[in-house]
Amino acid sequence: MTKILVTGGAGFIGANFIHWVLKNRDWEILNLDKLTYAGNLENLKAVEGGSRYEFIQGDICDGPLVNDLMRKVTHVVHFAAESHVDRSVLEPAVFVETNVLGTQVLLQAASKNKIKRFHHVSTDEVFGALELSDGKKFNEETPYNPHSPYSASKASSDHLVRAYGDTFGLEYTMTNCSNNYGPYQFPEKIIPLFVANARENKPLPIYGDGKAVRDYLYVDDHCEAIALVIEKGKPQETYCVGGDSEKNSIEIAETILEALGKTRNLMTFVKDRPGHDRRYAIDHSKITKELGWKPRVTFEEGIAKTIRWNIDNMAWVENILNGEYQKYYKKQYGGK
Ligand code: NAD
Ligand code: DAU
Repeated sequence: MTKILVTGGAGFIGANFIHWVLKNRDWEILNLDKLTYAGNLENLKAVEGGSRYEFIQGDICDGPLVNDLMRKVTHVVHFAAESHVDRSVLEPAVFVETNVLGTQVLLQAASKNKIKRFHHVSTDEVFGALELSDGKKFNEETPYNPHSPYSASKASSDHLVRAYGDTFGLEYTMTNCSNNYGPYQFPEKIIPLFVANARENKPLPIYGDGKAVRDYLYVDDHCEAIALVIEKGKPQETYCVGGDSEKNSIEIAETILEALGKTRNLMTFVKDRPGHDRRYAIDHSKITKELGWKPRVTFEEGIAKTIRWNIDNMAWVENILNGEYQKYYKKQYGGK
């Protein structure tokens, strides 16, 4: 029986992964989440009480707790992290605590308990930035060159995972994925933030010249990629996962404004993010060739579904916007 310790399962991708697994596989899930500002048990209401799902509130930095949970599972899928680049500029320390130290605690306990597979969920941001129009893409051979405290902390965690593999024989796999979008994404990230603002005729804050490019991937496609890597991926291997959908912030804003029938005048150019990476793009040919994965959801389908979800679940969005998030952003940015 496969029983997975999912860390950070109450966040955006973790919650989608839990829903995806419970629907598409017979695996059991133990979800360990600290419930930081980004963790939300509302995301998992539909699976609560199910025989294959259990939730434990706790911190991945808590060694004794992590060690105890590790004894009950066969696999680990590690999502738990501080995930927002803007926050990492304002408060880097917690990114090091959770993303670096927390990952080391998990790796130590996974090695000790002879976990069958430790799957580490990482990001394309560890590779640094591409030029807007050089036609290049990141792949598994791209050297690391992180720029933000967030990406530096993720890069450190990637190195630790490989070090535990090389030094202690821990069997691991890793995915470096591009920008996810879909249901339950915290409305600090561009797509849900812009939908929420557009709906209320508030400005859509576009950083710098709005031409920085990200490669958008519908979250269900990422979940399927992780499941395939766990099942069929070679131990000690890394797979790059991307959506073949390069868009800049202006294009994201235009798509959302058009879908909601709002005026382009809501687009507001604001001060750029410090160290803003210009472009990310992923060459996913390794996972496509070896495991038969490719993104199934086009950007047009995915963004339509995501806008619909955000509109249909405005109470979920508003609970967040009116809570801690609102206080935080008012303090940092004077509200946006
Ligand atoms: P998120 O911020 O929505 O969720 C993070 C979750 O981790 C939350 O539920 C939070 O409560 C939990 N958490 C944070 N610190 C914790 C701790 N110390 N102990 C236990 N739980 C803790 O993040 P997300 O967007 O779902 O990202 C999940 C993972 O995927 C991260 O590792 C991120 O680096 C990676 N990733 C994200 C994207 C993306 O586009 N969102 C792309 C590539 C990789
Ligand atoms: O590439 C994968 C990464 O994608 C993940 O590792 C991160 O966890 C995830 O947060 C995401 O990082 P980004 O910084 O790319 O996502 P964000 O939604 O914050 O920004 C996307 C782009 O939109 C980026 O170029 C900055 C721009 N932006 C963002 C916000 C929030 C704006 O122009 N205005 C905004 O208000």
